[in-house]
Amino acid sequence: MSAYPRVLVSEINDRSGDIITVAGWVVTARSSGKIAFIELRDGTGVVQAVASSDRVTAEVWQQLEGLTTESSVSLIGKVQPHPKRPDEFELQVSDAKVFQVATEWPLGKKEHGPDFLLDHRHLWLRAPRQAAIMRVRDQIIWSTQSWLREQGYVRFDSPILTPNACEGTTELFELNYFDWAKAYLTQSGQLYLEAAIAALGRVYDFGPVFRAEKSKTRRHLTEFWMMDAEAPFVEHEENMNLQESLVVRIVADVLSNCSTELMTLGRDADALRKVKAPFPRLTHFDVVKKLHALGSDITADADLGADDETMLTKQYDSPLFVEKYPAVVKAFYMKRDPEDLTRALCADLLAPEGYGEIIGGSQREDDYDQLLARIKEQGLPVEQFQWYLDTRRYGSVPHSGFGVGLERVVAWICGLDHVRETIPFPRLINRLNP
Ligand code: 4AD
Ligand code: MG
Repeated sequence: MSAYPRVLVSEINDRSGDIITVAGWVVTARSSGKIAFIELRDGTGVVQAVASSDRVTAEVWQQLEGLTTESSVSLIGKVQPHPKRPDEFELQVSDAKVFQVATEWPLGKKEHGPDFLLDHRHLWLRAPRQAAIMRVRDQIIWSTQSWLREQGYVRFDSPILTPNACEGTTELFELNYFDWAKAYLTQSGQLYLEAAIAALGRVYDFGPVFRAEKSKTRRHLTEFWMMDAEAPFVEHEENMNLQESLVVRIVADVLSNCSTELMTLGRDADALRKVKAPFPRLTHFDVVKKLHALGSDITADADLGADDETMLTKQYDSPLFVEKYPAVVKAFYMKRDPEDLTRALCADLLAPEGYGEIIGGSQREDDYDQLLARIKEQGLPVEQFQWYLDTRRYGSVPHSGFGVGLERVVAWICGLDHVRETIPFPRLINRLNP
């Protein structure tokens, strides 16, 4: 298209004096009649381009003057130091090719409410804040996968269509599987990973999971991304050590690679720098006492409510583990604490600053009879769990695992009020579009 090489905005600083092409979308365009200023965004950054009517052809000048917000264009010009901002460079335009002149941009300067923005999610994603969140999300995914690889985990893609529930039956999306079965969208790949440990050792999956949650809160999506990790011969304490190491790694990587994004988001990086291992470990028993002192009316055998988690985690700088919940409020597959059979050998990892649960994990019940009894107790269809029970018939071993809710982690790291901004196209109880 052009004889001059196309350069990304992020690379422009290294090209001072060169004539190059940049292609992207117009953030702002204004013209005095003789000089035009165009801010151009290409996904890697924003560059200012300057054109003057006496340095381009009349035809190009006319095109440049017709540019509107979000029009798509490629500009050719010389990279030169920005006259006002040291260390920045701008483009002195000598030629241009307009791809399309955008019609009036609906997300103009005035403030819009969340519903309007979510209705326009496909366009809202272009806003600097939204793009910064998606970049941090990408970093968190890479950090997670790098950590898993270094720790010897093998990726194992569990199915999305399943014949049985993993996390209780009240939050299942159900569908007709042709005319011969009911199928459910997976809530977590955990049960399949438990089968894989005997074949591969440490394994993980990372993909979309589904919860028909009736809750309309800032922490709940109906479709979200979970990383489930499972490891043989790992018991409760070591399970928490692994989670701690993963979270420390994610935070360190974001701090070193995403400082621009954190600045765009106005996220206090010092709050993230305070995240230090070892994370506090409190039992559910002690947390209930603490919460009572803080004014909660939680009962001794209850799960922590959202408000309890907020209240509790506002007291901490680092994430904290809440261990050994009452077994009755947790899933059927969790092993009981041998020191108190009413408790599960589990831990939720709660993010600080009021964010709450980001990871749920536990040691798994590895005894066949116990597991079968739990499945029956919870009224689950034993027949559908025969394959899972096989893992306890053929070489059962102590094992543990955990599931990271990606969007909850992104919300905490980015300092966001609501998970709806942490995923490209959020699915909520009252939203399926766009
Ligand atoms: O605590 P959960 O339900 O645990 C499990 O599903 C286990 N099978 C995981 C495992 O041990 N492999 O979900 C794990 C995490 C939660 O800690 C939370 O961060 C996130 O998933 N999560 C949600 N995120 C967004 N919207 C929802 N509706 C969520 N429900 C859970
Ligand atoms: Mg949980």
